[in-house]
Amino acid sequence: MCGIIGYVGHRPSVPLLIESLRRLEYRGYDSAGLAFCLNNKLQVIKSEGKLSNLENKLNQSEFFLATSGIGHTRWATHGLPIEKNAHPHLSIDGRFALVHNGIIENYGELKEKLEKKGITFSSETDTEVLVQLIAHYVRKGDSILQAISKSLKEIEGSYAFALIECSQPDKMWVGRHSSPLILGLGQGENFVASDIPAFLPYTKEVIFLENEEIAEITTTSYQVYDLDLTPLNKKVTTIKWDIQAAQKGGFKHFMLKEIFDQPQVIRDCLTGRINKSKKSVILPELENFPIPHKIHIIACGTSFHAGLWGKYLLEELAQIPVEVDIASEFRYRKVPLSPQDLVMVISQSGETADTLAALRLAKEKKLKVLGLCNVVGSSIARESDITLYTQAGPEISVASTKAMLSQMLTLLLLTLFWGNKKQLLTSTFLEKAITVLSNLPEILEEQLPVLKNSAEELAQKYAWARSFFYLGRGLGYPLALEGALKLKEISYIHAEGYAAGEMKHGPIALIDPDFPTFALALEDELLSKVVSNLKEVQARGGKIIALTTPEVKVEATDLWTVPFLEAPFNSFLALPALQLFAYEMAVYLGKDVDQPRNLAKSVTVE
Ligand code: AGP
Repeated sequence: MCGIIGYVGHRPSVPLLIESLRRLEYRGYDSAGLAFCLNNKLQVIKSEGKLSNLENKLNQSEFFLATSGIGHTRWATHGLPIEKNAHPHLSIDGRFALVHNGIIENYGELKEKLEKKGITFSSETDTEVLVQLIAHYVRKGDSILQAISKSLKEIEGSYAFALIECSQPDKMWVGRHSSPLILGLGQGENFVASDIPAFLPYTKEVIFLENEEIAEITTTSYQVYDLDLTPLNKKVTTIKWDIQAAQKGGFKHFMLKEIFDQPQVIRDCLTGRINKSKKSVILPELENFPIPHKIHIIACGTSFHAGLWGKYLLEELAQIPVEVDIASEFRYRKVPLSPQDLVMVISQSGETADTLAALRLAKEKKLKVLGLCNVVGSSIARESDITLYTQAGPEISVASTKAMLSQMLTLLLLTLFWGNKKQLLTSTFLEKAITVLSNLPEILEEQLPVLKNSAEELAQKYAWARSFFYLGRGLGYPLALEGALKLKEISYIHAEGYAAGEMKHGPIALIDPDFPTFALALEDELLSKVVSNLKEVQARGGKIIALTTPEVKVEATDLWTVPFLEAPFNSFLALPALQLFAYEMAVYLGKDVDQPRNLAKSVTVE
């Protein structure tokens, strides 16, 4: 997601802030900015695009007199990636500048409240509400800390912020809830950042802020408080990582970091989209959009697998017929399309050539296009009639992991939204779905380390395999396809995903002791069928890894059990298991996990 750096000290802050942001570039961003105090005035310099554009604006020598400031690289979630939406944001009185990571869910109502007090806004962002609110309370007589405390108690959502005030260049104020923020403690200087690499060359002494903690930092001191301004004593940690490891948050590979990012991805993807009190799904983008009679889902690779998974749900729970096509086939088939049909394109990067071409073909035929994208302002996002962002944050590893989970979650939200609008879902079902979704991040957070250990054991046991079958039925079928793709693309082991019921129509001829099978045997109405398919595999001497739950009676060479979750929510445990098995196989075989041979992160050519 976005990158934050704050500095108070003795060095020229402008080059330091730029270099710190450069160490956060790997996280992906689409605009950047700095703010610093000079002669009791705030200088705010921002630019679209890359840091080099920002540097080109920092050419006045007096800028290099500043010895403090804040900087930000923005990954757009609300508001296009244009200069006016870039951070830092200024209060209307020009007194405060603030940078922020996270999503302020109730920014609309707060913005309205402030506008009624005559405060005007200069951006479309949720962030600007926070700096205007703090400045508003200071103008009413509160101290800066009191104003911060009051403001944070009013906002809902996630935040990590850094704030500076024009007449106190040796101070900054910071706070976090749900989005990470770390203090870096130096000699005669102090730092704050969203990510350790930003200041690692200067200090390894850090304090990890916890949720609902704020801090006042000067060049020689710091004090952390809770939201009631009770002072807190915090442990100082010495970081042992180098820059490379720090960029991966201490994980060995970006892929592993992104697999472990998935609980937070669920939180971010659900932010502002579920109303826990009313037990309903909120998708403002689709409020006035007609419910489609038929959907053509078009995508490539992992995104295609997410679309296929969504098909089963949309058909069953929203009773909308769905066709799912690989984009490179759709664009050349003569598909009979009706103007009432909806084309849904799914793309993490938003730049996949085949998917973009399919979108343009649909638009030529006057069909409406709904884009499910992870990159704000990407080609597919811009050319879709409506875009639902999957909020997975930048995905660095070529093998897509958290993006697929966010695509599936977005498809599930869409299904619940349309199913409810069509009055096909009971309030009990909706309530249960919302409850399970709200608990999913904690469940996954708890399970991921366990899944990783099991995956590592199984990988070492099966690393000899030269081929693998992945079998599943119903929702397990798209997951089987995805598990096979993950194994292929990062371990280079041949793998075939198959509908379990299809095995007997030929592929079963391949089964022998040297051709193991990974089976999705989770609890749903097709489980008994999968169990009998596995008996056919076993009868031919095939080894089986069965991903299942403790309650299921299934014979396999290796049972990999996960806690019971009802379908379709159990898919959100199965997918990380499949990802981790492929990851551990690739690591054990010494492959280049983040940059597999022959692959690109975004296939922008036919
Ligand atoms: C996924 O692991 C692959 N890297 C690849 O299949 C990818 O999903 C596909 O190229 C589609 O990319 P997109 O989602 O950015 O359109």
